[in-house]
Amino acid sequence: MKEQILKEFKQQFGDGGDIRCYFAPGRVNMIGEHTDYNGGHVFPCALTIGTYAAARKRKDRLLRFYSMNFEKLGVLNSSLDELKPDDAAGWTNYPKGVMWAFEEKGMNIPNGMDILLFGNIPNGSGLSSSASVEVVTGAILRDLFGFDVSNQDLALIGQFSENKFNGVNCGIMDQFAIAMGKAGHAIFLDTANLSFEYAPISLDGAKIVISCSNKKRGLGDSKYNERRSECETALAELKEKLSINSLGELTEEEFEANKNLIKDETRIRRARHAVTENQRTIQAVAALKANDLALFGKLMNASHVSLRDDYEVTGIELDTLVEEAWKIDGVIGSRMTGAGFGGCTVSIVKDEAVDTFIRQVGEAYEKKIGYKADFYVVEIGNGPEKL
Ligand code: GLA
Repeated sequence: MKEQILKEFKQQFGDGGDIRCYFAPGRVNMIGEHTDYNGGHVFPCALTIGTYAAARKRKDRLLRFYSMNFEKLGVLNSSLDELKPDDAAGWTNYPKGVMWAFEEKGMNIPNGMDILLFGNIPNGSGLSSSASVEVVTGAILRDLFGFDVSNQDLALIGQFSENKFNGVNCGIMDQFAIAMGKAGHAIFLDTANLSFEYAPISLDGAKIVISCSNKKRGLGDSKYNERRSECETALAELKEKLSINSLGELTEEEFEANKNLIKDETRIRRARHAVTENQRTIQAVAALKANDLALFGKLMNASHVSLRDDYEVTGIELDTLVEEAWKIDGVIGSRMTGAGFGGCTVSIVKDEAVDTFIRQVGEAYEKKIGYKADFYVVEIGNGPEKL
């Protein structure tokens, strides 16, 4: 891959100078969905697919961007003196947002750059292609200009840029999973205080299969912000009586005993998801540690049901993928992953059932939805690296 991106870089921007190459992964969340902005736990892992980058410092303050995924857009020009969100700038708002965030944090970027990206994560699929671009941009800036930032800082800067520059109030899960990834492990992260633990994922005789719905997300970001504010309102209502800082602090029993403080039926369901999903995530990691993969799978299935019925972020496409998966012998668990409203599902599938899974789920999906889904058998990879 390095040779390919170097060749393309030279073709777009010309040869010469110190051209450096980098990689940051995508991520998949195994369980713990829509808990990260509710002070709950998440359990994501980095993937071996992600975003490749080639970058070179310039002598002036110009920024030139090229994405091999959006060839038709050609080279897009900007400048360090123009770091503001711009609808016409498309994908470059992500790297520009990270540059803006570095400067906001007091790290002034002295030179412009030529930057080429190539991603082998399906775009907008719910595998965090945008967080991957954010983290790879942070890795470029750290290496080219010698900024003293840790991988965890790269995650926080990425989230800050997404919240403040790109206007999506995402939690920390995606950037953290990507910046802190470790091959063969998922990250059990407590988003209330960022304490975390690596848990080995040894799926003896099974694989992680991602099914991509190919549904364009469209309204997803605004719905995401809407869910987030529903949870914030529910928390404020509970706080009238309870002294808690987040929904993640509640057990199911505490929630049930106090849910009537929430003055709206929909908000009760939203908050119930946040509470039960956090508890499921804690139980799922315990099950994994006890080698009880069957229980882990059941909790994944229950997570999907809660996201479908209480949180209402699935939709017919994700529901079809998951319900078809559940019908297949050898499927240990299956659920939507990421923000929802389109995007992907994650399933744990026994080796011998993988081909049947892809064929049967694929055929049923196309028949019902009218277009194809894509399937990826993925491996758990490391965080960002210089190639
Ligand atoms: C998106 C956000 C994350 C998280 C998930 C839902 O991926 O970026 O912070 O909230 O949705 O779990």
